[in-house]
Amino acid sequence: MANKGINHLAIIMDGNGRWAREKGLPRTKGHYQGSQTVKKIVKACINLRIKYLTLYAFSTENWSRPRTEISTLMKLLAEFIRQERDDMNKNNIRLIISGDISRLPRRLQEQIQDTVKLTQKNNKLILNIALNYGGRQEILRAVRQIALDYRDNRINIRHLNEKHFKKYLYHGSLLPDPDLLIRTSGEVRISNFLLWQIAYSELFFTSILWPDFNEAKLRKIVDEYQARDRRFGGL
Ligand code: FPP
Repeated sequence: MANKGINHLAIIMDGNGRWAREKGLPRTKGHYQGSQTVKKIVKACINLRIKYLTLYAFSTENWSRPRTEISTLMKLLAEFIRQERDDMNKNNIRLIISGDISRLPRRLQEQIQDTVKLTQKNNKLILNIALNYGGRQEILRAVRQIALDYRDNRINIRHLNEKHFKKYLYHGSLLPDPDLLIRTSGEVRISNFLLWQIAYSELFFTSILWPDFNEAKLRKIVDEYQARDRRFGGL
């Protein structure tokens, strides 16, 4: 079935560790398999004509994981960018990042900036990777910026409404709010993801572990989404 109505899909990719444990493998293998799923799902979104895909790759809370695991995740991200950079560009995919990347390894920051710049004119799929991202931090960052703009007479507080506030969020002028948020692995939490943006999103929780997620499973969820009735608070 073709996709009607999903413009922006957001995903909390969860369950890499459990997937590995179930198979008696090290957690690193789960994250590796998770990064393979990322590639599949990017392609699936293109097939489904989804325009914006936001993936929660590393939260502000993930720094509390063991150092070796953080380093595995950083290596996988670097590998993903290195391997996919040219393909993304050929396939008209634009990479953007939500979050503060200044704490990431210097080399990874440079790779990210290079790919963001290379792909900036692309528009088939906007791939937004949330990296060192937290929803509360994003809102606070917006409030701080608004306070500075107020101090410098760049904003009239009486004109501050929801639409204007959104512009202060990461890529607030580019990204529409997600239509659908999926979390894999059976956890039923938002975990500080896109707190402002998901006010009216449809939420979908599946017990499938992220490394086992694929296009067919995404299509099933999309079908179910299309059967839901979105009323945005109306009747
Ligand atoms: C959750 O699994 C997953 C993460 C914290 C990171 C997601 C990262 C990837 C899929 C790999 C690299 C990303 C890209 C964009 C190439 P978990 O470790 O919390 O699993 P568990 O809850 O089962 O332990």
